[in-house]
Amino acid sequence: MRVLVTGGAGFIGASLLERLIENGANVRVLDNLSTGDFVNISRLLRSGGATMIKGDIRDFKTVKEAASGCELIYHLAAQSSVPRSTEDPALDLEVNVNGTHNVLAAAREAGAKVVFASSSVVYGVPRRVPTPEGEPLTPHSFYGASKAAAEDYCRLYSELFGTPTVILRLFNIYGPGTSKGLMFDLYRKLLRDRRRLEVLGSGLQKKDYLYIDDAVAAFLMASEKAAFEGEAYNIGLGESYTVLQIAEMIFEELGLEGVQVVPKGGTSWAGDVELTQPDVTKAELELGWKAKVGIKEGIRRTLEWFKKSIGPL
Ligand SMILES: NC(=O)c1ccc[n+]([C@@H]2O[C@H](COP(=O)([O-])OP(=O)(O)OC[C@H]3O[C@@H](n4cnc5c(N)ncnc54)[C@H](O)[C@@H]3O)[C@@H](O)[C@H]2O)c1
Repeated sequence: MRVLVTGGAGFIGASLLERLIENGANVRVLDNLSTGDFVNISRLLRSGGATMIKGDIRDFKTVKEAASGCELIYHLAAQSSVPRSTEDPALDLEVNVNGTHNVLAAAREAGAKVVFASSSVVYGVPRRVPTPEGEPLTPHSFYGASKAAAEDYCRLYSELFGTPTVILRLFNIYGPGTSKGLMFDLYRKLLRDRRRLEVLGSGLQKKDYLYIDDAVAAFLMASEKAAFEGEAYNIGLGESYTVLQIAEMIFEELGLEGVQVVPKGGTSWAGDVELTQPDVTKAELELGWKAKVGIKEGIRRTLEWFKKSIGPL
């Protein structure tokens, strides 16, 4: 089967690409390498299982060319930083809304299904925790607004044009390959100073963290099991932990004692949502997907990777 992965040189895209190649798919990557890195996928490209188009999802002609002949599109390319979306809301709108529209229009022409990488941030500050998919979407950031709008375009392409789409609302994804997020930030700070660790905000922000292999499994299961009628699924661990709890787990795993944790105070960044925890029942019942890697095991594997890639403490 010929498959297109937009954003395939990014953190999640590169892991997804690896699994797709292992499963025998013929994969094309479309990525402009704005945050992704060619190094992430050069080995996979050399293996012959994938080809790469360096191009931008904001350009319809490029997206159409990339989608031609594909049966399935995993659409991950995005401006995915909340702080960046506050600095430049227009960029977010262009990449995440217009870019997603280009992917949908190209999928419609190619007769391809689309699995869309959305985000937990579409809920904004949730009224209910754990949050089920039926909760209202009241995003708290431009990034969240762009993902919520893109979700609507997916749903409407399914409803009005019959283009098969499914939406995955990913919570915080972490693991080998990441170069951002809480665990990466804490590890880098500990490399500089293992006696004193400054954390953003109060440290009591409580979020759901999902290990990368489980996120990739969700993409694969959604492409097999979803009805592709524009429906959305929460994809998270279903548990949430404070920044201070994650820091403690990291100290324990690294054998560090007596680290002074210093919360910086205030909010971490404009638009941050300080409490996230999904209800993941729908994905379990309808896709047969459930996270397998617990938080401690996920942190252990991630720290092993940090030691090799960034250096030991
Ligand atoms: N990592 C997470 O915790 C998380 C959580 C929720 C949702 N998501 C979503 O999952 C997807 C993948 O996230 P990630 O963490 O791998 O991010 P990432 O930034 O590592 O990957 C995004 C990829 O898209 C590419 N890209 C960006 N703009 C592009 C454009 N205009 N045209 C073509 N390519 C472009 C980048 O170069 C990069 O390779 C994104 O849509 C993101 O919003 C991620």
